[in-house]
Amino acid sequence: HPPAVTLRVSPCRAMRAVGILSWLLLLLMLLLPVAQVTGARPCIPKDFGHGSVVCVCNATYCDTLDPLVLPAPGSYVKYESSKAGKRLERSEGKFHWALPTGLLLTLDISTLYQHVKGFGGSLSDAAAMNILKLSQPAQDNLLRSYFSESGIEYNLVRVPMACSDFSVRPYSYDDVPNDYELKHFRLADEDVKMKIPLLRRALAMSKRPLLLFGSPWTAPAWMKSNGDVRGKGTLKGKAGDKYHKTWANYFIKFLDEYAKHNVTFWAVTAQNEPLAGLLTPPQGPTIAFTAAQQRDFISQDLGPALARSPHGTRLLMLDDQRIHLPHWAKVVLGNATAARYVAGLAVHWYLDAIVPPGCLETTHKLFPDHFLLYTEACTGFFMFRFAVSLGCWERGDHYSYSILTVMNHFVSGWTDWNLVLDLEGGPNWVKNFVDSPVIVDGDKDVFYKQPMFYHLGHFSKFIPEGSRRVGLRSSRRCLLCQLEHVAVLRPDGALVLVVLNRFGRDVPFGIQDPAVGFIETVAPAHSIQTYLWRQQ
Ligand SMILES: *[C@@H]1O[C@H](CO)[C@@H](O)[C@H](O)[C@H]1NC(C)=O
Ligand SMILES: *[C@@H]1O[C@H](CO)[C@@H](O)[C@H](O)[C@H]1NC(C)=O
Ligand SMILES: *[C@@H]1O[C@H](CO)[C@@H](O)[C@H](O)[C@H]1NC(C)=O
Repeated sequence: HPPAVTLRVSPCRAMRAVGILSWLLLLLMLLLPVAQVTGARPCIPKDFGHGSVVCVCNATYCDTLDPLVLPAPGSYVKYESSKAGKRLERSEGKFHWALPTGLLLTLDISTLYQHVKGFGGSLSDAAAMNILKLSQPAQDNLLRSYFSESGIEYNLVRVPMACSDFSVRPYSYDDVPNDYELKHFRLADEDVKMKIPLLRRALAMSKRPLLLFGSPWTAPAWMKSNGDVRGKGTLKGKAGDKYHKTWANYFIKFLDEYAKHNVTFWAVTAQNEPLAGLLTPPQGPTIAFTAAQQRDFISQDLGPALARSPHGTRLLMLDDQRIHLPHWAKVVLGNATAARYVAGLAVHWYLDAIVPPGCLETTHKLFPDHFLLYTEACTGFFMFRFAVSLGCWERGDHYSYSILTVMNHFVSGWTDWNLVLDLEGGPNWVKNFVDSPVIVDGDKDVFYKQPMFYHLGHFSKFIPEGSRRVGLRSSRRCLLCQLEHVAVLRPDGALVLVVLNRFGRDVPFGIQDPAVGFIETVAPAHSIQTYLWRQQ
């Protein structure tokens, strides 16, 4: 993305080439603050009548950000997005030594909590198809928006293993009955022609290491009790038998085949939503497990298979709603063999409204060596009237409120569902349409970056893997001026504070870092802010 104005032209050449008038113009630009002559491009807003705006991108234009530059000690940088229309707008300010009045947030970096894994989304078949509907330059703008330094720098990518409901057809990687040797295992066109090329482009444009993790929805029909890739079944037989061994080897084959394309996986989850059925349509592809079945499959089949494989891929359990915590953790991790194979617990957000977050903290306290990671979330799912609601601010709010809440309960990262969907919220072969932070209109060769995209960006761009949550004390609580917040210490020593105001009133407040001083500031109505500074 070429900067809008470049100052690399040598003054003499410029003088000769463009004459005195342009020279004066150049001088004028030199006198403007640096922030105005960087490469960042503003949002082109579009209002679809859902409360706020989307930013419109196409083949030749997309809003961008500058790589993060931290100001000198004593100053801070603030990024702000708001329902009123700001999108990750950057500004700087100075610390003071005078105590601000009103609500005060005080950092305590001597209290360190969980490490951060990161933030990201899922490259479902639907997401890949939607990206590839665009022209090549528009695809690049979209991928850069998510993965590059001119975008929000996602570092987590979830990849469904074979079909999910967000595919255009049901399939597995080995539909030849009774192929216990997996001789006919083959990646699909969806992998080879779509997901792998896109992953390689994302990897190439990302400055951070991308952590990929795979999740299976369904086994081949011949391994399932219902004899169908579609619908809910269990694996035939029981842990330790040929079905379970073959299913564990199927994971390894998947990792082998992707590795042949130089795409390697940080982790796999043992099963997407093993308790599904409640939340997905009955024809949705699923293998059901009880906690005891997952424990036995992990300790006898999948754990040993992964440990024997050359990939070093980690294993995440659960991958389902937090209503199952801490019960599933007790059953699976209560078994020392299974616990040794499991690195962390994967959690989905769909029932969070009815299940308080305390169960996350309880689980963390019972099993402090196993991290918690949110691995799926989306808005517009079946209980909402509209799958896609272009420009809806509250759906972004819903994301950041969830991220702030779960991070304050020991969760180490947050993964969105489909990276990209179409105007209908699909494709999805069981018509389970939902919303996404990026919506593509293939006919117009444009895509829309929704408020959800920017809410996620307030975390993903500024909180890299390896950051740690630190103590943060709020001086008082009040019902209508309540702010949500989290503070983290980055590996480079910088501090990050994210502040969300979900309400319709401006809230003046102060920030105290005892080592640096005070910030006196305001959280505008319906806004999210990220503050960053260095202590030295
Ligand atoms: C792309 O968007 C920019 C900015 O809105 C606009 O000027 C340009 O005409 C658009 N290009 C196309 C091909 O529509
Ligand atoms: C994978 O990487 C290796 C080493 O960098 C390279 O030789 C090989 O061509 C790559 N394979 C593919 C499929 O890109
Ligand atoms: C763990 O579970 C397996 C069954 O999957 C069982 O054989 C083993 O004894 C259990 N180990 C412990 C330490 O509980």
